[in-house]
Amino acid sequence: MMKGVTNFLVTVALLYLGCSLIASAYDPAPLQDFCVATENSPSAVFTNGKFCKDPKLVTANDFFLSGLNIPRNTSDALGSNVTLVNADKIPGLNTLGVSLARIDFAPYGLNPPHIHPHATELFVVLKGTLYVGFVTSNPDNRLFTKVLNAGDVFVFPIGLIHFQFNAGSTNALAFSSLGSQNPGRITIANTIFGSNPLINPDVLAKAFQLDKNVVNYLQKQFSSENI
Ligand SMILES: *[C@@H]1O[C@H](CO)[C@@H](O)[C@H](O)[C@H]1NC(C)=O
Ligand SMILES: *[C@@H]1O[C@H](CO)[C@@H](O)[C@H](O)[C@H]1NC(C)=O
Repeated sequence: MMKGVTNFLVTVALLYLGCSLIASAYDPAPLQDFCVATENSPSAVFTNGKFCKDPKLVTANDFFLSGLNIPRNTSDALGSNVTLVNADKIPGLNTLGVSLARIDFAPYGLNPPHIHPHATELFVVLKGTLYVGFVTSNPDNRLFTKVLNAGDVFVFPIGLIHFQFNAGSTNALAFSSLGSQNPGRITIANTIFGSNPLINPDVLAKAFQLDKNVVNYLQKQFSSENI
């Protein structure tokens, strides 16, 4: 009889633990209505998120941003421009687990292969035609692609490499919502070939099965040190 009760309690405890792990799988759930971010104290150690402003001092502007209607400059080498609205831009987003991006594309512009380590992305096209895709993890490395037009929505699952390419000869525009106040971004080419300091070229030549001259060329392209 006692044993049955104990087993029951253990089961309930495990279920609870399982549920709370699911509930906090990405950004942790807030413990209050809001926690508007304030400047981290320079003497503080890093926190998971940002310090909260005194709720009595919070105003509507802590939850507000304007200007996302303005087209961005897409004249860089890639022909794209990502405007991220995260908790750094809207302090009221702190602890709330969402963020937003505006992505402008010149004709044939590319948002190059990248990963958001902390967020799934829900992508909606407002203008133009975009060829988008993501690749699953090893061992399958399956590529999922789609051609999207205005009004179409596509999901990029958390942690997977994905890209968006403007397949049309007009500008394209998309917005994304992301499941983290700070989705993070790892742009594959820049991270691998433009790390600071640079990764030893022998490592990259072997990893990518490339001639070392090609590795040196790519490191020149992506390094901010301009070696
Ligand atoms: C994105 O657009 C803004 C505003 O037009 C501009 O200041 C910024 O340099 C652009 N970024 C890139 C990477 O082109
Ligand atoms: C866009 O950025 C480029 C390079 O930074 C600059 O030469 C150009 O004038 C900018 N265009 C606009 C419309 O601001």
